[in-house]
Amino acid sequence: MNSKHLNFVLTVCILFLAPFAGKAQKATIEHRVDSVLNLMTLEEKIGQMNQYSGFWEATGPITEEGNKLEQVRTGQLGSMLNINGVDHTRKLQELAMQSRLKIPLLFGQDVVHGYRTMFPIPLGEAASWDLEAIEHSARIAATEASAAGIHWTFAPMVDIGRDPRWGRVMEGAGEDPYLGSLIAAARVKGFQGKGYGNTDAVMACAKHFAAYGAAEAGRDYNSVDMSYRMLNEIYLKPYKAAVEAGVATLMNSFNDINGIPATANSYIQRDLLKGQWKFDGFVVSDWGSIGEMINHGYSKDCYQAAQQAITAGSDMDMESRCYIGNLAQLVKDGKVDIKLIDDAVRRILTKKFEMGLFDDPFKYCNEEREKQQWNNPANLEVERDVAKKSIVLLKNDNQLLPLDTKKKAIAMIGPLAKAVRENIGFWSYAWPDDSIRIVTQWQGIRTRAGKNITMTYAKGCEINDSSKAGFAEAVNIARQADVVILSIGEAANMSGEAKSRSNIHLPGVQEELVKAVCATGKPVIVLINAGRPLVFNWTADHAQAILYTWWLGTEAGNAIADVIFGDYNPSGKLPCTFPRTEGQIPIYYNHFSTGRPPKTDSDVNYVSSYIDLPNSPKFPFGYGLSYTTFKYSEPLLSKTTMNSNDKIEIKVSVTNTGNYDGKETVQLYIRDLVGSVVRPVKQLIGFQQVFLKKGETKELTFTIGIDDLKFYDYNVNLIAEPGDFEVFVGGNSATELKKTFTLL
Ligand code: GLC
Repeated sequence: MNSKHLNFVLTVCILFLAPFAGKAQKATIEHRVDSVLNLMTLEEKIGQMNQYSGFWEATGPITEEGNKLEQVRTGQLGSMLNINGVDHTRKLQELAMQSRLKIPLLFGQDVVHGYRTMFPIPLGEAASWDLEAIEHSARIAATEASAAGIHWTFAPMVDIGRDPRWGRVMEGAGEDPYLGSLIAAARVKGFQGKGYGNTDAVMACAKHFAAYGAAEAGRDYNSVDMSYRMLNEIYLKPYKAAVEAGVATLMNSFNDINGIPATANSYIQRDLLKGQWKFDGFVVSDWGSIGEMINHGYSKDCYQAAQQAITAGSDMDMESRCYIGNLAQLVKDGKVDIKLIDDAVRRILTKKFEMGLFDDPFKYCNEEREKQQWNNPANLEVERDVAKKSIVLLKNDNQLLPLDTKKKAIAMIGPLAKAVRENIGFWSYAWPDDSIRIVTQWQGIRTRAGKNITMTYAKGCEINDSSKAGFAEAVNIARQADVVILSIGEAANMSGEAKSRSNIHLPGVQEELVKAVCATGKPVIVLINAGRPLVFNWTADHAQAILYTWWLGTEAGNAIADVIFGDYNPSGKLPCTFPRTEGQIPIYYNHFSTGRPPKTDSDVNYVSSYIDLPNSPKFPFGYGLSYTTFKYSEPLLSKTTMNSNDKIEIKVSVTNTGNYDGKETVQLYIRDLVGSVVRPVKQLIGFQQVFLKKGETKELTFTIGIDDLKFYDYNVNLIAEPGDFEVFVGGNSATELKKTFTLL
């Protein structure tokens, strides 16, 4: 047998045996978990279900907080969060090795959009619609975090957000379940890489289960009340996608759902997640949410809260201390079956085995690897790439952008032009050297503009202040410049957790600054930095060019410069609808028709509209311009009828009709015209990103199958119904380029 033949035989054997190897490894782990479980006392089992946060100075020693360290030593603590750095995690793991059974600790951390290298906020990344880039971003975050001793990230946040008053829209992927599901899966794959247990990967944690983004009035932690049909049709899909992508854990949410707090909600945690979806990982409660059921008025005390939470499938208690304080008594009182405890502990121990921590508790404590990942220049390059793809061009009158370097003088104005840490947004890490690592917008533009362009700067005003004292200086430098770049928006801590805003206008006097600068008659480019859609109608109607820059991360200034000077043709598309005013909220593209849909944007004649506002949003879901223009052909259908085991192909040609090469995100929507429940006027079911050189045409093919037409009916069954459908293609959700077909 020659070597080629031998290779072939060996490959076949490996491929054939691999699944069995996987199964064998799983069986081994199951056996090993059971053998540890059988040795554990009830107290030690409950210890594994107990998680505390650890706080200390960024460079100082671990603070001795209460008897936390004692609980680690005696096996009463299974996991800690906010412990990072190989030095600190090693110290705590050494303590855990002093416990009777030497069960290793799990270290969790909110690595939401980067660790050492900060990537764009997740909502900004979602605007790239680039699943590969989004996965790569999470991959790098995991590589840097795992090198710092972290085993588990509390991410991706996959909550659908239709209300921009809610500050946590910045953490997710916007309003659409289809895009949100694909991004959830991409982030899970990025964090978990080739599998957690590899030292460049972390366990992911899909959160916040469930429907946290539907908090009434956009007020954080507020109640959620909706039909189980809507819950499944819209809000649960990204969690299911994360589970199907193999997410290791979930975190439940603070809100109550139809009167039952998520933490104690058996329908979502037992019936759906661990039942129908066959999820075999574990569920960690969000910070204190078990104990907070007392505030909800659902639990009389921590004793009852612990009973309700474990019964409903919450496996690990983050920071409420209800489990460690009550579960043993609940078992002794016959109120909790030990089987529930064993199931939770089995799930937790299984992950620790899969992470390889029993074989080597210090496998993530590698000083060399930490040093290597601490300042990896390759990671900054990737960050800059993801950041520039996240920028959305909302307006570009008279092709003001890209800026030609023949312009001799740029005035850069605004409270965010020279801001440093604001660029990395909420859920980021304040490293001591941020001031030299984070590329400010001023630095990025100054560097790229080159020496032939003079640049002047004036802050103009603060982010959220009433003083206009800086206006005169700003107007003065604007008058002397050829073009003005105005960087405005929110502060980084005006979005994120517990950052709901009842008023999502530009804060302070910033829009008045825009008016004052525009009054000079100079061309004005506005950069809007925010963690949510903002309301900025005057700016949108008067500034010549607008780039929505979210919070773009460590390389923010360079990414913005890449777009401003045309080194990158902006390709971002909004992952969420931008309202004209708070009064329109909630406003989202996949809404129902109602019995009286407005015929035009200004129709107020006994139709579903406002008498004081146009019916459309300021900018629709999926919207984003390019420096070039794209022309769509009429979509061509392979046939106009299909049955349930059929497929229909839709072909559309897209032509770059402008002067710049560019990338377009071609979106595919359907409308089910008649259903046993009302169906949305549009529903995203596909998209493709296509790069076209100027003048180039490409034909794209989409395929529609029965699964693309399914929805949850009144009885929450996932079905497709015969009838007529419209299919739309276009560059945003307002497209009217459509054809029809019939499902027989
Ligand atoms: C917070 C957040 C959650 C985070 C957890 C740990 O309250 O709701 O997203 O992962 O606590 O920091």
